[in-house]
Amino acid sequence: MKIENYNLNSQFVKSSPTLKECPATDLPEYAFIGRSNVGKSSLINMLCMNSKLAKTSSTPGKTRLINHYLINESWYLVDLPGYGYAKVSKYMRRDFEKNLFNYLGKRENLYCVFVLIDSRLSPQSNDIEFISRLGELQTPFAIIFTKTDKTTRKQLNDNVKAFTNEMLKMWEELPSFFYSSSTTKRGREEILGFITEISTKPVFQAQ
Ligand code: GTP
Ligand code: MG
Repeated sequence: MKIENYNLNSQFVKSSPTLKECPATDLPEYAFIGRSNVGKSSLINMLCMNSKLAKTSSTPGKTRLINHYLINESWYLVDLPGYGYAKVSKYMRRDFEKNLFNYLGKRENLYCVFVLIDSRLSPQSNDIEFISRLGELQTPFAIIFTKTDKTTRKQLNDNVKAFTNEMLKMWEELPSFFYSSSTTKRGREEILGFITEISTKPVFQAQ
């Protein structure tokens, strides 16, 4: 399909507290994860050109459940709650992490997890740790540097370089990565093109 023909039909299906409650695994799915407020829900809305699809907020911790959106009646985009949100109790966080990693490690039809990184920041230890957990789980992933409308080109290049250097301490090769902005729609074609490309096979898998 030609990229400019990406006219997505999107509809909310279900919010699930745990893996067990998620929809049947008969369609490929692509999930979005990253620290609270990094722009996961906004990116899903931008990809779908549907500003009312996923709930967004300037206050971190908005998305609390595993949210499935059915696209073109043939695949799912999944909005996940953010990690690293300080204002939840230790117990809630432990419970939440257990559910999240259970989903990420066991969801059979999960083709790729997009890990969103705030392009304005130097490498953050919780992002690096999160990615190494994905490696342990052997979950295929790619990286998206978000909010690039808020950075200068130099700042973006410096932060991406620092991040990839940090990753190369742990990984022999780098995953695919993308730049996005939900305000300018930067990255839409590339990310949707990538999803199309991998829709028959997993992408980046830990060795
Ligand atoms: P949680 O659900 O709380 O984990 O957050 P989230 O990662 O889903 O973030 P969300 O999409 O709700 O966006 C958080 C804030 O960042 C909102 O105020 C958005 O308007 C803003 N935002 C998201 N993406 C972009 C972007 O690309 N550019 C700019 N300038 N702002 C953005
Ligand atoms: Mg959200």
